[in-house]
Amino acid sequence: MRNNIVEDIKARVFKLIKEAKDVKSLEEARVKFLGRKEGELTKLLRSLKDLPLAEKRKIGPAANALRKELEALLVQKLESFKALPAGRQSKIGIDVTMPGKKVFRGGVHPITLVEKEIREIFKAMNFSVMEGPEVESEYYNFDALNIPQDHPARDMWDTFWLRQNEVKSQKLKVKSEKLLLRTHTSPVQIRYMEIHKPPFQIIVPGRVFRYEATDASHEINFYQVEGLMVGKDISLANFKFVIEEFFKRLFKKNLKIRLRPSYFPFVEPGLEVDVQCVRCGGRARLPDGQGCNICKESGWLEVMGAGMVHPRVFEAAHYNPREWQGFAFGLGLERIAMIQYNIPDIRLFYSGDLRFVKQF
Ligand code: DAH
Repeated sequence: MRNNIVEDIKARVFKLIKEAKDVKSLEEARVKFLGRKEGELTKLLRSLKDLPLAEKRKIGPAANALRKELEALLVQKLESFKALPAGRQSKIGIDVTMPGKKVFRGGVHPITLVEKEIREIFKAMNFSVMEGPEVESEYYNFDALNIPQDHPARDMWDTFWLRQNEVKSQKLKVKSEKLLLRTHTSPVQIRYMEIHKPPFQIIVPGRVFRYEATDASHEINFYQVEGLMVGKDISLANFKFVIEEFFKRLFKKNLKIRLRPSYFPFVEPGLEVDVQCVRCGGRARLPDGQGCNICKESGWLEVMGAGMVHPRVFEAAHYNPREWQGFAFGLGLERIAMIQYNIPDIRLFYSGDLRFVKQF
């Protein structure tokens, strides 16, 4: 008998909802059955705990299912009222004269946006855009870049090594066969030079991987843009010009750059490049007197590593280092996007949260 209680409630509430002509009568129906204190269904649900087990098993699921069904139905009916202008909430259900709802058709991820912009700037300066594999061999990622096995410099890159079968590919056999997820885009320098003759200038955008803990400025994967320019007499002066021009065009401001000595095994000398802070213009303070948070009140932003290509790197690519010289650089795309769009945390890029992506 009691089992029919649910059926009985269902029949009555459905009828009421169906007949509801406006928001008010719909709300009345809701309160009558789902109201927190006196709703019929609410009361039934509340009384479940006092029923004998057998009955509880029968009625419980049916009553809960009905509650869910009702909630969905109420929302649906309410939506159909909303689509009508006030005063016309009646009969037909939809107003065909209302403007359509805008459908979100997707957007471009900020990393893609920044990468595209960087490509365009370098292409306008006569650079070619190249790509390389994300699964890389130990040889290209390390050895050929003057980072020999057991060299402490390998610790600079925390590496994802791939588990491999014993069967070794013929192609890789001459070099080191161990495979990994590339830790930087620099291996493409070697790959490109092996099959091209200088002079040339290229950039290489791409995804790289690091085996490390994540925080607001570290991710296990991120994007870099590598640059390489080689010729008979390419010098650091050329580098300085190209890079200054690049940042000028990217940030649409006349910003100074600063070169500091640094160490990377594949360049000599090695440099760290800073650009004047985009926000405070190098003053370290904002117009309202507050300290600039983007550059942490230093006036400068660290943006890339760079240097003159090491002779050993040329040798690995079978170039004569007495004949050729050039510069290389590597910059992180997320860092640029974070500066460009004032994004506080690198993890947002990969969170898959549409509220983030929809802003660009
Ligand atoms: N590959 C370096 C890294 O991921 C960045 C880098 C530094 C690239 C100096 C270069 C360079 O080409 O010259 O940390």
